[in-house]
Amino acid sequence: MRYSEPEGRLLSLTPEPALDATEEDPPTDPSVPADERVIRPMQAGELVLLIDQKKRRYVVELSAEGEFQTHAGSLAHRDVIGRPEGVAVASTRGQRFTAYRPTLSDFILTMPRGAQVIYPKDIGPILMLADIGPGVRVFESGVGSGALSMAMLRAGADIVGYELREDFAARATKNVGSFLGEAALARYQVELRDSYDGIDHRDFDRVVLDIPEPWRVIPHIPVALRPGGLFVSYSPSITQVVKVTDELARVGFGEVSTTEVLNRTWHIEGQSVRPDHRMVAHTGFLTRARLTR
Ligand SMILES: C[S@@+](CC[C@H](N)C(=O)[O-])C[C@H]1O[C@@H](n2cnc3c(N)ncnc32)[C@H](O)[C@@H]1O
Repeated sequence: MRYSEPEGRLLSLTPEPALDATEEDPPTDPSVPADERVIRPMQAGELVLLIDQKKRRYVVELSAEGEFQTHAGSLAHRDVIGRPEGVAVASTRGQRFTAYRPTLSDFILTMPRGAQVIYPKDIGPILMLADIGPGVRVFESGVGSGALSMAMLRAGADIVGYELREDFAARATKNVGSFLGEAALARYQVELRDSYDGIDHRDFDRVVLDIPEPWRVIPHIPVALRPGGLFVSYSPSITQVVKVTDELARVGFGEVSTTEVLNRTWHIEGQSVRPDHRMVAHTGFLTRARLTR
C-alpha cells in the first residue's frame, strides 16, 4: 500500500487553442532562464495555480472565456489573463485567490493520475542519486503517471520507458506534454512492454525503476547499462529492498546503498515555533548502485 498525499485538483486540462499564443510563446514550464527574468503576464493556454485563503491549491488551464467554479462563487479567467504572477483576484462571492504559474511540484500533486506517483519529496533526491542531467540516457520502468519522468525530462534526460498498461502510458505522455510542452516528447519514448521480460534497448547511462518486483529486471541490466552506470529503484517495502540488494550483488553491482527521506515541516507563528504535529512518516526507500565491469 503506497502513501497517498491529499490531492489538489487539476481542472480543465482539455487542450484548447491558446487564444493569445504565438509560436514564440514560452511553454508552460515555469522555469525561466536568467536572461528572461522580466514580468511575463499570464496568458490564455497556460496553466495557473490558484491558492485560496485556506491554502487550498488548484491548477487550472486559462482560457479567454473560462470560469473557475468554487464553493465560494466563480472566478473569471480573464481576471488573471494579462496580469503578473502573484496577483490577488476575487471570486464573485469575495473569496480571495493568489495566482501563480505552477511549479513542477504543484503540477505533480494536482495532475490527473493513472498510477500512484512518486512524490516530490522523493523525486528531488532521486534526481541527485541517479545524477540526472542534460543528455543522460535513462531506462525507466514503469512510467505510471509520468511524475518522475517529468522531473528527469526537465533536468534534460532522454528517456526510454517500458510500461505495462496502455492507459498509464497515455496518461504519462499527456501529463509530460501538458507541463513541459510537446517538444519534451521528442526525448520521451514510452513502449508498452513488460520490463521483467528483458531490455532490448542499449547504451543507457541510468536505470530508474518504480515497479513491484524490481529484482526481476536487474538480471537484464548489465547488457543495457554502460559500466559505471547508475541504478536507482524506489520501493515502498523493505522486503522489496532486501531482494533488490541481494540481486544487485549477485549480478555485479557495487556501491549499493539504501536511503529513506523523512520530511518534517515546522509551524512558525509568533511564539509558537515547533515541528508540525503531523508528518508523512513513510513513502518509500531509494536504493542506488553502480554497475562494475
Ligand atoms: C507506481 S507506478 C509508477 C509511478 C511513476 N514512477 C510516477 O512517478 O508517476 C508503477 C507502474 O509500473 C507499471 N509496471 C508494473 N510492472 C511492470 C512491468 N513488469 N513492466 C513495465 N511496467 C510495469 C505499472 O503499470 C505502473 O504504471
